[in-house]
Amino acid sequence: MAARKIIKFGHPVLHRRAEPIININEEIVTLARDMVETMYLAPGIGLAAPQVGVSQRLITVDLSLGEKPDELIILINPEILEEEGEAIEEEGCLSVPEIREKVRRPDRLKIRGFNLEGKEIEMEAYGLLARVFSHEFDHLEGKFFIDRLSPLKRSLIYRRLKKQFGLTSPS
Ligand code: NI
Repeated sequence: MAARKIIKFGHPVLHRRAEPIININEEIVTLARDMVETMYLAPGIGLAAPQVGVSQRLITVDLSLGEKPDELIILINPEILEEEGEAIEEEGCLSVPEIREKVRRPDRLKIRGFNLEGKEIEMEAYGLLARVFSHEFDHLEGKFFIDRLSPLKRSLIYRRLKKQFGLTSPS
């Protein structure tokens, strides 16, 4: 396992839709393990493959930051099946350092994906876990938490980030 570099806002991989994973081969298993390592080192409670520069649909989540092994979730090709409720909480992103904003997200969601053994997993998430899934899923769609803010706030932050990171293709 080796931690990888977390890429930042403005890198094209973060601004496009990630590709579905067709085969869970050794490369994917290594990617997943490296992502877990990267997430713990950051430290963060969630990471999406585009954040390490890989445009594939894979996310890792662990609310315990590695304290409880059974809280680690690795999901391949996740799909959000249902969303319910609403919650507004402050959040940030390892790819957008120094910015934290209150973001409105569903309070409950049902998510489905595959684990590294290729087994289909379906789970319900509430509160913070739902928030993290939603945040990481957005990364697979090429979106950031900033995209869920009001248009005014969003454009102000985008302007600031474009200056900071030199984004060339505004979304
Ligand atoms: Ni993020």
